[in-house]
Amino acid sequence: MTRIAIFASGSGSNAERITTYFADKESVIIEMFLSNNPTAGVIERGRRLGIPTVLFDKKTFSKTNKIVDLLQNQQIGLVILAGFLWLIPENLVKAFPNKIINIHPALLPKYGGKGMWGHFVHEAVVEAGEKESGITIHFVNEHYDEGKVIFQAKCGLVSTDTPADVARKVQALEHIHFPEVLEKIIATI
Ligand code: GAR
Repeated sequence: MTRIAIFASGSGSNAERITTYFADKESVIIEMFLSNNPTAGVIERGRRLGIPTVLFDKKTFSKTNKIVDLLQNQQIGLVILAGFLWLIPENLVKAFPNKIINIHPALLPKYGGKGMWGHFVHEAVVEAGEKESGITIHFVNEHYDEGKVIFQAKCGLVSTDTPADVARKVQALEHIHFPEVLEKIIATI
């Protein structure tokens, strides 16, 4: 049995996709959502899906061990970042070595790093005239978007694509691949 905690700062569409994907799989439990953002869509999704959602502030997250204690007390085996925007502090990385996985909406190492999230990524991709973008699923370390890459998928772009068009193409890839890649990782735990 693998217990999963999903961190999300925004809409939470990936958190929902992952939850519904594993709903009928007995070896995986989506134990909780966690968010730094009291107005995030993920909170309403958690309510609707019946997933307990924990809110925390920056100090609790970065300067205390409370979140690590919570995850360990709930026997969490895998931590997923699905649109979570804060840097993961060292105590959390150390408590879950190779057990924290992030999805990034671009083909890392391009368009990663601090401040590169959501629409900022897609704007930069369009600005650079890229012919393709995609998703990167990777292990998390103490640096933004630098952990070992697990999986990438690409989508083609055309010159008329707006950042919103790129976002749609990338999110479609996320919803298809993220749960399946997670399932493969869980099988190795
Ligand atoms: C996703 O596209 C994810 O790749 C991105 O935030 C979006 C969250 O969407 N993550 C980052 O930009 C992290 N640097 P969602 O809330 O609908 O799942």
